[in-house]
Amino acid sequence: MSLVAGLLAAALAVPGPAAEAASADLPPGVIAAYSLIAPKSAAESRLVARVVVARGDSCPQVKVSDPKGHRSSLPMEVRAPGATAAIAFASVTVCSVGLPAGLATAEVRGRAIPATMPRSVDRIALVGDTGCRIRSDLVQDCSDPTAWPIARISRRIAQQDPDVILDVGDFYYREESCPADSQANCGGSPPPLAGMPFLDSDYGWLAEVLVPMNPMLSVAPILMLRGNHETCDRGGNGFFLFLDPRPDTAGLCAPVATPAGLAAPAPATTPTWAATIRITPERTLRLALVDSAYGSDTAVTQWAAVQRPTYQRAQAMTEPKPGQDSWLLTHRPVFGIVSTQMAPPGNPEWTPWSSLDQTAASQGLLANYGMVLSSHLHLAQAVQIPGQPGSLVLGNGGTLLGPTTGYSIPATGPLANPDGSPDVPGVTPYPTAIDEWTDVRFGFGIATPGARAGRWAIAQLGPNGQQFAQCSLRDRQLACRSD
Ligand SMILES: [Fe+2]
Ligand SMILES: [Fe+2]
Repeated sequence: MSLVAGLLAAALAVPGPAAEAASADLPPGVIAAYSLIAPKSAAESRLVARVVVARGDSCPQVKVSDPKGHRSSLPMEVRAPGATAAIAFASVTVCSVGLPAGLATAEVRGRAIPATMPRSVDRIALVGDTGCRIRSDLVQDCSDPTAWPIARISRRIAQQDPDVILDVGDFYYREESCPADSQANCGGSPPPLAGMPFLDSDYGWLAEVLVPMNPMLSVAPILMLRGNHETCDRGGNGFFLFLDPRPDTAGLCAPVATPAGLAAPAPATTPTWAATIRITPERTLRLALVDSAYGSDTAVTQWAAVQRPTYQRAQAMTEPKPGQDSWLLTHRPVFGIVSTQMAPPGNPEWTPWSSLDQTAASQGLLANYGMVLSSHLHLAQAVQIPGQPGSLVLGNGGTLLGPTTGYSIPATGPLANPDGSPDVPGVTPYPTAIDEWTDVRFGFGIATPGARAGRWAIAQLGPNGQQFAQCSLRDRQLACRSD
């Protein structure tokens, strides 16, 4: 048994999040197998099959069949990390292949993975902010599946039998060694590699994603977006190696040589892309995917101008069509409210509106969307700005939750100062929200299409599978209420 396979077996044998996730049996030698929703340029079927095996194992073939029962095998190619990051991922081999259109089944060593995009959709699972927080000053109990419930959430998502899963980012929170006084909570957590200008590793991704999310990984096509925890100086190398579907991105975050040594690549966005999901023969859901890994939460900075083309491109990719709903997916919320408990003392300019670079970068470019789905704030929240798409924030997928109180409709809207004046001179602020709902507890969403385009019901469920709130989206108006 290889080192990784041995460690994986050991992890699955002890109580805790890994064991909670072990219900979905994996074939021998396969660490993870899943199908990522991809741009058409990456795969005719819009699905890329990914398999993670231990280093030293060769990539398996994907055995497929067509609707007439004809069988064939697709060889997978190694998806290699960038050369300067490779040492941190030396224990695994990632295999990838774009699936052709028109398949009926796909499997890897007996494990079925999604072979096609769904022909119709009843349930879309929504989740975000899933990693286990480890910093020297803030440690979550990663050994307790109640305190860090992504394994339970992953199993509940699998039980819901979703047609599609959308994960809007922040996977990687193991950013420091487990402190000496927290060994009971995180003693087994892999520390970042010393001396590298990034924080993630193969073992870290095993702990954060590949093991605890195992139950949900192969039940439905998955769309993964990166969060600010996956910038190139944090967990970006693993994100692009394991979870980004595009063929040319695996090395995007690899350190670059500078006179002072290796450094993380400069902040940059990746190109906006879009995916279409068929809800019924007459109805589609268009998803525009904006990379908001970088930018300021608390001020409009020069980054807003760098970010703006990503929202312009998203708008161009979501031209309205009969029967089509469009949602914008972006990790940082365009309209999100943080708790007043987060207010820095003595700053009269502070407002609770979050992610101000995204708010500014996207202003005037949101007319095509019925909803904006984000995470980033560690809670469940709905915000309605007049004339704008409903904003749903689901950052409650397992990462240590935010403050439980201090949420209300702010006196002034996004991009306004507390006195109502424009935060950015010459830029008209939004009006403040007409509705706000915040519920700070762990969970995930299940979105169900309503009777006609523009209408959705979104249930909020906890790690125990119980519904704790219900949202309705109706012609861009989002309203949520706790049960
Ligand atoms: Fe987060
Ligand atoms: Fe975030």
